[in-house]
Amino acid sequence: MFKIGIVGAGIIAKSHADGIKKHDECTVVAVADIVKESAEKIAEPFGAKVFTDYHEMCKSCEMDAVIINLPHYLHCEATCFFLEHKVHVLIEKPMAMNAKECDKMIETAEKNGVTVVVGHVQQYTSAHKYLKNIIDTNEYGKLLRVTESRNVNYFYKRPAWFVDKKLSGGGIVMNYGAHSLDKLFYLTGSTVEKAVSVCRNTLNDCTIEEGAQVLVKLKNGVSATLSYTGSEIPAEYETMYYFEKARIRITSSHNLYMWEDGDWKLKVDDSSNPTIMHDSAIAEFIKHLKGEPSEITTAQHGKAVMEGIEMIYNNSL
Ligand SMILES: NC(=O)c1ccc[n+]([C@@H]2O[C@H](COP(=O)([O-])OP(=O)(O)OC[C@H]3O[C@@H](n4cnc5c(N)ncnc54)[C@H](O)[C@@H]3O)[C@@H](O)[C@H]2O)c1
Repeated sequence: MFKIGIVGAGIIAKSHADGIKKHDECTVVAVADIVKESAEKIAEPFGAKVFTDYHEMCKSCEMDAVIINLPHYLHCEATCFFLEHKVHVLIEKPMAMNAKECDKMIETAEKNGVTVVVGHVQQYTSAHKYLKNIIDTNEYGKLLRVTESRNVNYFYKRPAWFVDKKLSGGGIVMNYGAHSLDKLFYLTGSTVEKAVSVCRNTLNDCTIEEGAQVLVKLKNGVSATLSYTGSEIPAEYETMYYFEKARIRITSSHNLYMWEDGDWKLKVDDSSNPTIMHDSAIAEFIKHLKGEPSEITTAQHGKAVMEGIEMIYNNSL
């Protein structure tokens, strides 16, 4: 039975805890959050110990691994702390504030003989696995280009650290761009060669961008446009994949449609399985801890995502 600690018991911690509950080879033994009640809520179903200081948790609990769900500015610091104490880490996305921090995390893991992997979860949906198979088998010819459009009220009920650049590292690109780049890299096996963007906050005086339009060229020649808007408009999240001989659309519920005979035909329906992403992340993390072949996102992949995000910010017009 793998003993897992959870660090940061906010919004996404519950998805990980629910995934652990469904897996009989692991359990939560400790939860740390500066807000005690938040830690207690996550710990309660497992009878896990509660801490308000993760350093204390590390000293007094034997753990095989921790899942870190902290504000971005703490990702590198907390990950390195647990790695130095020989505890494996699953760090939530984005891996860190920048690629330099990713290098530090990778070096610390190697030095201590433990591993750090990243919680990029959208690639685990059936829709993305189905699409990857289409790309890998060349069934509809080459993938030519991708367009993604994601619009959401970015400021609605969002924890304050997310909209402070010093604590989050950036806004909608740092947050949702990490998902877009992760999926592009997973699907195509490539990474960003060049990126140009317009990243802006035209809504308020928060220090992060709430909107961005991004043009990315991958090293394998596939290009993508990514458009994010954080204003109060109906939510939308849709990605279109243009092949030589097909057009495929993945919607916000991770349903996959293909254009056939003049209409969109539903090919993969993931809407009835909303927890597939974090459940799969836990299953893949446990395989990884057991030393079995695993699809958990590597630290190198997480770092490539950070490098892509940095290119997008550095080339904002
Ligand atoms: N994979 C996904 O789909 C997904 C979705 C949402 C968030 N995330 C990521 O998960 C991470 C956490 O996001 P969230 O939405 O859960 O944020 P959140 O603000 O809800 O949770 C963060 C928690 O960390 C706690 N915390 C802050 N400083 C701490 C410290 N020093 N020690 C212990 N606890 C501390 C806070 O009290 C809070 O409970 C981020 O990296 C975010 O980008 C991923």
